[in-house]
Amino acid sequence: MKSVKVGLLGLGTVGGATVSVLQRNAEEIQRRAGRGIEIAIAAARDVSKPYSFDTSSIELSTDLQVVVDHPDVDVVVELIGGTDAALELVLQAIDNGKHVVTANKALIAKHGNEIFAAAQDKGVMVVFEAAVAGGIPIIKAIREGLAGNQIEWLAGIINGTGNFILTEMRDNGSDFADVLAEAQRLGYAEADPTFDVEGIDAAHKLTILASIAFGIPLQFEKCYTEGIGHITRDDVEYAEALGYRIKHLGVARRTEKGIELRVHPTMIPERCLIANVDGVMNAVLVKGDAVGPTLYYGAGAGGEPTASAVVADLVDVARMLTANPENRVPHLAFQPDGLADIPVLPIEEIETAYYLRMGVSDKPGVLAEVIRILAGQGIGIEVMLQKEPNDDALTVPVIIISHCVCEGQMDAAIGRIEALDAIQGKVTRIRLETLDA
Ligand code: NDP
Ligand code: HSE
Repeated sequence: MKSVKVGLLGLGTVGGATVSVLQRNAEEIQRRAGRGIEIAIAAARDVSKPYSFDTSSIELSTDLQVVVDHPDVDVVVELIGGTDAALELVLQAIDNGKHVVTANKALIAKHGNEIFAAAQDKGVMVVFEAAVAGGIPIIKAIREGLAGNQIEWLAGIINGTGNFILTEMRDNGSDFADVLAEAQRLGYAEADPTFDVEGIDAAHKLTILASIAFGIPLQFEKCYTEGIGHITRDDVEYAEALGYRIKHLGVARRTEKGIELRVHPTMIPERCLIANVDGVMNAVLVKGDAVGPTLYYGAGAGGEPTASAVVADLVDVARMLTANPENRVPHLAFQPDGLADIPVLPIEEIETAYYLRMGVSDKPGVLAEVIRILAGQGIGIEVMLQKEPNDDALTVPVIIISHCVCEGQMDAAIGRIEALDAIQGKVTRIRLETLDA
């Protein structure tokens, strides 16, 4: 059977690794796909550099447009990143009747609804396994493996760079900026690393996961997004002393009121498997009503792990090329006319427990006042601890773990606590999840 011809946009960390994996495992891939998969043409800004793979059979270009217009190309693989040129090129490829594989979570989370509608009209596939959790086949697991379930919730460590930073800070006391530079050197970080640090990359991925889990349109703008920049080494240590780990988690949960969609640092009991997922590794817990809790683990970033997912998508496309478009797996797991209009809840309406840290002047009666404010908002206290005084000896760190409460009530309580004369600076808040799995 005729080989599938690929046009590759981008020859960086993931693009280069995709060529390497396709070349190294060509025979095995052909046995699986039923036909060969060959890169016909590849483009990047600069194609004069030495590559670690064989370029003799690949037409190299600095013009991305030539790739999407190439008459021999069946599938365009978009690995340039960003949302401007990438959107135009992907829409152009679809318009030219080409299937698309992408690892670009920003593109899918922000423009997926438009892209899938265009692909539906043209009867082409757009697949994006590599966009979430690097090499873990989490899209396929939810979209196909769990298709019989009502998904109740999912929670995951879905940014490798952020997890790498938190792990190095905890285990080696490393400096935030140094670890971020190392993540960039290893090819884990986004072109703009604030996407990793501020939780935007995780929000892109969670938006995609929530859509395929609950059958809702992509709604990135409604995802509550908080990064890891404000987590101090003290918080990490206090959490450990209480039997918790701090992880940057994406949480999507179906509730009676709507869908919770949020990424933020989260305290998790250290006995949970996911609390022990370290370094660049990712893990996603998915709870289905029939299957119960399931856990998926693997490398969340890096060239070859991500290429593993890109190549698996290429194999899927090769297998489905001749299938009637109506019989293919829908882009967002549910048939386009089966997507539901379930509201995404504002963060004020989510319910969770909290870790609070505040600097308190060492005077009598202050803690009683803090307790009174919390009780006034109906907030129960699980643990309250007073730590050793800070270096200035004037303020004492006080740690509180609350029972589960609505975020709006906690906002009101924190506002009143911060207004007390005896409270120094802001109250640090970290949401706490027990992930009952
Ligand atoms: P890189 O920056 O390593 O590679 C980007 C490639 O695209 C380079 O070859 C670059 O060319 C080319 N490129 C970018 N813009 C243009 C342009 N305007 N014209 C021509 N060529 C261009 O990125 P990654 O490989 O790390 O990431 C690619 C995609 O994969 C992104 O969407 C990213 O979010 C996603 N991803 C990355 C993962 C990772 O671990 N790195 C994991 C999962 C997803 P040149 O080299 O000449 O500048
Ligand atoms: N920058 C991303 C991360 C790449 O660190 O998780 C994988 O999507």
